[in-house]
Amino acid sequence: MIVAAGRLHTLLSDILEGLGAPREYADTVATLLVEADLRGVDSHGAHLMALYAQRIRSGHLDPAAKPKIVSDEGSTLVLDAGLGFGQIAGLAAVHHAISRSEEFGIAAVAVREGTHLGALAAYTERVARAGRICLCFQNGPTFVPPFGGIDQLFSTNPLSYAIPTGDEPTIVFDVATTTVAGNKLLLAQKRGDASIPAGWATDADGVPTTDPAVASVRHLQWFGGHKGYGLALLVELLAGVLTGSSFGRTEHTASPVHGAERVAKGFLFLAIDPARFVPDFRARVDTLIRDVHASRPAAGVERVLVPGELEHERRQQRHRDGIPLPEALCAELDRYASEVGVPGLTASV
Ligand SMILES: NC(=O)c1ccc[n+]([C@@H]2O[C@H](COP(=O)([O-])OP(=O)(O)OC[C@H]3O[C@@H](n4cnc5c(N)ncnc54)[C@H](O)[C@@H]3O)[C@@H](O)[C@H]2O)c1
Repeated sequence: MIVAAGRLHTLLSDILEGLGAPREYADTVATLLVEADLRGVDSHGAHLMALYAQRIRSGHLDPAAKPKIVSDEGSTLVLDAGLGFGQIAGLAAVHHAISRSEEFGIAAVAVREGTHLGALAAYTERVARAGRICLCFQNGPTFVPPFGGIDQLFSTNPLSYAIPTGDEPTIVFDVATTTVAGNKLLLAQKRGDASIPAGWATDADGVPTTDPAVASVRHLQWFGGHKGYGLALLVELLAGVLTGSSFGRTEHTASPVHGAERVAKGFLFLAIDPARFVPDFRARVDTLIRDVHASRPAAGVERVLVPGELEHERRQQRHRDGIPLPEALCAELDRYASEVGVPGLTASV
């Protein structure tokens, strides 16, 4: 089913409010979910409603929690998200990262007791649009073993960076440090895909598989083997250890759910004002992007891109043509709509 972005936003926002989120928070979370769908990151759009609904209903996500400042040293801040929506704490951190990097040239904002951030690009791109270089790191529950190990210790530990440009679209890199985000596998399962790409995951016995029915998010693979793992460890150190959040098997959370079920996540945002270094940073970035674009494509490659371009083009296309949602997801959203008594996509209340 093809759904207009505005219609999807209203539906998600209504459901979130029906689940107990204040209207303002429901609107904000819905905005970021729709943004992910518009950018073609379908694993982190409306698909996440099921995760959030389950966590709100089980009491593990407080939909009204307001982030609080724990410490403020000027260019560094620590926030406590109170196990509220990751999106609300994430945008609060973005706000501080922008204003403090304007004042100090560089800012680091840590968040404890956050929950799922969604797609990290939503935050880094906002900071870059305000003219700052931004890096974001997030850790989480323990379901991916360290490289070469068996015991589960890390999350898919995503990281993102975004870079302000002049005339070119903002550079936005946003990835899990596993080959794919766990939610891509869950979405493939929800859609009933016949297969998944090789290298995503193994089955429960550690045997590589392309069968989504036997692949498990608890058996995702690090991208690039030890290299993805090395970056995942950096994410754990910055987003977990440094922020005072839970990390590895060490729990620092008021939440009663731990280990692989842990909902508490730590985030770290870094913002750098490039004008403190060179006066013409954006023009220099544009030059580099044009050099990349001028690179002759290898055999079988249509064009050479910088990160963020595909999503930028997808956003324009989906704004115009609507967002394609799998039938299983439409049915799921309609079920939540009916449960909270708001109009669904295919049925009225
Ligand atoms: N909040 C969480 O707990 C959590 C955990 C893991 C992942 N995620 C999110 O999952 C999403 C998907 O992650 P993923 O690892 O599956 O991403 P992915 O493997 O699809 O990679 C996406 C990135 O690669 C870039 N890219 C793709 N093709 C390119 C090309 N040809 N040239 C240059 N750049 C190119 C994209 O612009 C984008 O930045 C991200 O938004 C991430 O934040 C969230």
